[in-house]
Amino acid sequence: MTPPQLIEKLLPKWSPTMYKATLGGLVVLAIAIPLALAATPFIEFFNGMAAQPKGKAQMTVGRIYGAADLVERPPVEGMIPRGYFPYEFDKLGNTIEDAKRVGEQLANPVPITMSTLQEGRERFNTYCITCHGERGEGNGSVTGPGRYPAPPSLHTEQALGYRDGTVYHIISKGVGKMPGYADKLEPEERWAVIHYLRALQRSMAPRPEDLGS
Ligand code: HEC
Repeated sequence: MTPPQLIEKLLPKWSPTMYKATLGGLVVLAIAIPLALAATPFIEFFNGMAAQPKGKAQMTVGRIYGAADLVERPPVEGMIPRGYFPYEFDKLGNTIEDAKRVGEQLANPVPITMSTLQEGRERFNTYCITCHGERGEGNGSVTGPGRYPAPPSLHTEQALGYRDGTVYHIISKGVGKMPGYADKLEPEERWAVIHYLRALQRSMAPRPEDLGS
């Protein structure tokens, strides 16, 4: 039996229309199936990597395979990260009254040098400028109608009168709608920001004693 004869024997005795219809159907399926699969991205055929049992940091021990020490244990109570200094007035709230209370008790321990002023400017221009604006006038880029509420200017009589410790508490815990920055700025950085803020304030409210001779 020659190959053409074999094909003829194996193929069903269909009319040309039926062959065309079958071929057309196959083409439609060849397009539709990949499209349908692409539209359902959550079907994974080999999902062993994603579905395997896994331990996440700080997860309670003993949950996976029943193993006792497979997962990192939760830290011992009272443990603090390296380099972290607990803030002694952390329990106070984020009101101006609380901040003023701290102002009575904390003085700025960071010396005023060119490098601490520069550090303060760098941190101010990173963390405070967005709301308070480059010069502390309360016109930062995220403020405006329908956006973040504009903070008061840092050049008011009130802000000029805040002691360093008061501003330190404001930076650490936030005040009213302003969030705290204790997790972003080290204590020394907060004090350095305050030195820079003083320089900004003096630039707009100069006093003879600041200018020297
Ligand atoms: C997300 C916006 C935002 C950022 C960022 C921000 N502040 Fe504020 N700040 C505010 C708002 C709003 C107020 C007014 C809060 C209130 O009274 O409800 C405020 C108030 C203050 C006040 C008190 C002003 C007054 O007259 O009572 C000081 C001081 C201050 N901020 C300093 C800073 C410093 C320093 C930084 C950077 C470490 C900073 N802020 C970052 C929004 C911000």
